[in-house]
Amino acid sequence: MSASKSPQDRKKVTTLTLMKKKAKTQPITMLTAYDYATALAVDRAGIDIILVGDSLGMVMLGYETTLPVTMDDMIHHCKAVARGAEYALLIGDMPFMSYQASVDEAVRNAGRFLQQGGMDAVKLEGGQERLPAIKAIIEAGIPVQGHLGLTPQSVHQLGGFRAQGKTAAAAQKLLEDALALQGVGCFSIVLETIPARLARLVSEHLEIPTIGIGAGVGCDGQVLVTHDLIGLFDRFTPRFVKKYVELHNQMEQAFKAYKTDVEARAFPAEEHEVEMPDEEWEELMKELGT
Ligand code: KIV
Repeated sequence: MSASKSPQDRKKVTTLTLMKKKAKTQPITMLTAYDYATALAVDRAGIDIILVGDSLGMVMLGYETTLPVTMDDMIHHCKAVARGAEYALLIGDMPFMSYQASVDEAVRNAGRFLQQGGMDAVKLEGGQERLPAIKAIIEAGIPVQGHLGLTPQSVHQLGGFRAQGKTAAAAQKLLEDALALQGVGCFSIVLETIPARLARLVSEHLEIPTIGIGAGVGCDGQVLVTHDLIGLFDRFTPRFVKKYVELHNQMEQAFKAYKTDVEARAFPAEEHEVEMPDEEWEELMKELGT
């Protein structure tokens, strides 16, 4: 769906839309959003998928990793995004420990994303070890997007935020995981920080679309964390990020200008003031005896 299409031509993006795009080799676009205003802008830009990522733990809440993010955090942000987006497919990211402990819990938590959060689908991290949970969620009628490669919820197991799939054995395991996720019915898979040629190979082997982040141009679509793209997260910038604007600097400049204006009594000006009718003012003066 291109942004240039008029609103009446736009249709809600579904998992079928994504399959059709893959079949026609049309790149799929995906970005994260965590609040109403950003969701509105991303949706108006014509982006296919909005992910309410658990990356919100780092870029919105200031945690070092995504691990402290809870189901309640996710649902709170999903609700705001759902109020802002009309056309994009909305995916809620299942946070750490919301799907690992038991299949029942995984299904119930996935259900909350649709029932309470207003999402269309969920995403969760992991390969063949997650098949029972993924299968059960899909059997409950909830579309699932997989996530392979650098899976941030396993940061401690991986020894840091580092590239994955760089050995022949790791690459083969990743391909097997991707085929297994497709086999149980995932509608798409995110491939994060893996070699570009491996991502291309996986994408060619799958019928479902791959969405890459730090995985090269050979994926069927691309995703970035929006705060990286707009320069709002300055703790670190992964090599694969392209910054389209430096919003953090612009915000700081705006806040400084406001401070200067207030301190110089240049703001508020007359045009920002609320008027009071003269007769009301005069009556007040009379009442006060002035
Ligand atoms: O949480 C997130 O934003 C993600 C993307 C990086 C794919 O999982």
